[in-house]
Amino acid sequence: MGVTSHLAAPLPTPLPPLDDGGYWKDSTWQVLFALLDAAIPPIVVETALTDKKNQLKISEEEYNESYAHVREALTHPPDLDKFKEYLRARPSDNPRFLQNVRRVIATTPDSAKKKLEGALNTMTTRTGSLFFTGYCTPVQDQPLHIRQAVLQSWTKSYFGIWPILAKSIIALARKAFSQADPLYQQLIDYTDHPDSYRPGPGFDFKFMQFDNSEEPATVETDVVIVGSGCGGAVCAKVLAEAGHSVLVVDKGYYFPPSQLPMNQESGSHFLYEGNGLIQSDDTSMAILAGSCWGGGGTVNWSLSLQTQGFVRQEWANQGLPFFATAEFQRCLDRVCEYMGVSDAHIRHNHGSEVILNGSRKLGWMAKAEPQNTGGQEHYCGQCHFGCGSAEKQGPTVSWLPASAKAGAKFIEGFHASKVLFSEESGAKTAIGVEGTWLARDKDGGVSTPEANRVQRSVRIMAKKVIVSAGSLQSPLLLQRSGLKNRHIGRNLHMHPCNYVCARFHKDIKPWEGGIITSICSTFENMDGKGHGVKLETMNMVPYVMMSNFPWTSGLDFKIDALKYRNMNGYIALTRDRDSGYVFPDPVSGSPRVVYRASDFDRANAMTGVIALAKLCYIQGAEEIWAFIPGTQPFRRSKPRDVEGEKMDHGINDPSFVAWLESVEKAGNKPPITPFGSAHQMGTCRMASYEGEGVVDSHGKVWETRDLYVADASVFPSASGVNPMITNMAISDWIARGIAKELSLEKDKQ
Ligand SMILES: Cc1cc2nc3c(=O)[nH]c(=O)nc-3n(C[C@H](O)[C@H](O)[C@H](O)COP(=O)(O)OP(=O)(O)OC[C@H]3O[C@@H](n4cnc5c(N)ncnc54)[C@H](O)[C@@H]3O)c2cc1C
Ligand SMILES: *[C@@H]1O[C@H](CO)[C@@H](O)[C@H](O)[C@H]1NC(C)=O
Ligand SMILES: *[C@@H]1O[C@H](CO)[C@@H](O)[C@H](O)[C@H]1NC(C)=O
Ligand SMILES: *[C@@H]1O[C@H](CO)[C@@H](O)[C@H](O)[C@H]1NC(C)=O
Repeated sequence: MGVTSHLAAPLPTPLPPLDDGGYWKDSTWQVLFALLDAAIPPIVVETALTDKKNQLKISEEEYNESYAHVREALTHPPDLDKFKEYLRARPSDNPRFLQNVRRVIATTPDSAKKKLEGALNTMTTRTGSLFFTGYCTPVQDQPLHIRQAVLQSWTKSYFGIWPILAKSIIALARKAFSQADPLYQQLIDYTDHPDSYRPGPGFDFKFMQFDNSEEPATVETDVVIVGSGCGGAVCAKVLAEAGHSVLVVDKGYYFPPSQLPMNQESGSHFLYEGNGLIQSDDTSMAILAGSCWGGGGTVNWSLSLQTQGFVRQEWANQGLPFFATAEFQRCLDRVCEYMGVSDAHIRHNHGSEVILNGSRKLGWMAKAEPQNTGGQEHYCGQCHFGCGSAEKQGPTVSWLPASAKAGAKFIEGFHASKVLFSEESGAKTAIGVEGTWLARDKDGGVSTPEANRVQRSVRIMAKKVIVSAGSLQSPLLLQRSGLKNRHIGRNLHMHPCNYVCARFHKDIKPWEGGIITSICSTFENMDGKGHGVKLETMNMVPYVMMSNFPWTSGLDFKIDALKYRNMNGYIALTRDRDSGYVFPDPVSGSPRVVYRASDFDRANAMTGVIALAKLCYIQGAEEIWAFIPGTQPFRRSKPRDVEGEKMDHGINDPSFVAWLESVEKAGNKPPITPFGSAHQMGTCRMASYEGEGVVDSHGKVWETRDLYVADASVFPSASGVNPMITNMAISDWIARGIAKELSLEKDKQ
């Protein structure tokens, strides 16, 4: 164990240098930034206008009203001078904002980048501009109020590329603003780490190193595990403790507690798949998946729920009787016990209390939910970018150190390109994994460009290969290895989420406190088959919420964003009956996702949105936003009825009922409605017969030998509960099977 250091803030993890953006013409960038300025514009009172083209003016009356509203609505309103400075500020004057945007574009998959480039280029010409904006003057030459009007008209349009274009541009602006605007963060009193930051002890991982050489390096082991996330880490411990030699590889890197939590920009880059910004092809779904040492376990929100009976029965009915056995329950209990999963030490934050107290007032079912925090109180909401205190018992804190103690070896920065097979005995027999190792730089950092770091091709020869690369990557690795089973990559379940957020007259600082410590389950079974929604709190690191926050105008957005300290956000987490698929981008090879919430699933999500709004209302929310395009926020006419105790009409308040109707009527149609997913499952589905899925009931890939998948991709369908514990329990089962088989094979030799 390393030492506990005395830092006031995590050590910074700098981003790698950015390319020069030369893949686009200057004029293309100009159009983009002209539109970004319109999304979050500099705003001044008309008498103070100094730049007609690049400032948005409003009347003194409107200005005064806005400030009066801010003073009324916020527990800690800025003084008038700060307010003026905030409204007048142009986010794109801030180099961090510019870089944030450029970094997103740089890492956008080529196909999407080309589409955006095409649209922006067309607008630079007079005819193109007329077509896109209704004006001959190219948009970058237009004054700000016209640019804003163009964005507004796009968002209101219901067909063609307009609403999607607007959505993408506004999302870019909101993300860069909430991640990188220092004045904004100062005004909402946000810092990127907990106030009482004290890094916990880190485990001193020893990663294998290789020299610089053209020749591939070769390593031998009993078992190689690709992916150090929840599935892989559990397998590593089980197999190492059973006495087998184990090698765990991950393309991500290890970051010790002294570097966690990272700030929003570095965290997105170093801890997440695709820089934290994977979208489904139709842009309807924003997808979060962990990619670092510890995978999703390093960033997850620590909610630790066991698989529910109706899901276990559904899987058993599909020919997988194991899920209905006491043996599976032992797997669940074993992983929970090991991580100290418990609800005994929870201190709820405001967001979780709204779910608990509100449900009680409405006669709904909600309870405190366990977390894997080693039986300790863990009042921290920023583990989304890694857990600095090391209280969260993620793979890097518990499973992987335990496997190290049992002799497991590790390689970070290793991207597995394919599984190696021998064809000798008729069936495809896995004999190892091939890939590329990317070393850290000379100073042990990971911020130096890849071209200036040692790269080495490495072959790992193994008796058993376990693929635990997560539901987006595991199927791609199997396909790259030449497997043709048509089920690989299909059956992608996502738990699509819609969002609701509310402002309370209370100093909340929503990013503080355990992320999800309570759930309302009243609407989890809408069809009698276990499909429905769970109502959960949202992680409130600002960009997570603000990237999707409703936008109707620059002024409204800027004013609403200021209320963040008094807000809480919620998700309607839907157990999806229907599914999509993942496939490799033909150019980059990275995962592309085709997924659109079906009418059936989004009707359930909508039920969740309405229910969440009711919870917020009954708990005294003064303003409620459903993230449903075309709707206005609900504003309570009689503010200050704190906690809803004095409400007379309750949720039957006619103005509230009318607002709910407007939300339902507007509907949550993809792609313009934002959906989010942090749970990807099912793309290497377990099935009892060859031809019905990718792996058998022991996790072995059909039609192969010695090749296994152990991660959330083997789920036969959506788990309904947040998937980590289900994933770990299945991985425990699969790993125990492999351990036994290996021992038998060793005995025979
Ligand atoms: C923000 C967030 C919050 C979450 N919160 C919760 C929660 O509170 N409760 C809960 O139950 N679940 C939660 N989840 C979900 C949970 O973390 C995931 O379901 C789980 O991590 C999936 O585990 P996995 O084993 O399938 O893969 P992952 O944990 O995703 O690990 C896959 C690993 O494989 C590596 N990899 C991929 N491809 C390759 C390759 N070719 N070569 C080498 N390495 C590769 C990746 O870098 C990654 O580290 C959350 C997820 C996210 C993203
Ligand atoms: C706006 O507020 C300022 C300062 O409080 C005041 O002097 C001015 O008269 C107000 N203007 C209007 C139009 O209400
Ligand atoms: C989530 O975090 C907890 C605590 O850090 C960890 O034990 C668990 O393994 C993680 N889950 C996943 C899926 O990685
Ligand atoms: C929830 O109820 C508890 C117990 O009555 C109370 O202490 C707490 O303040 C309430 N919280 C909210 C946010 O209403």
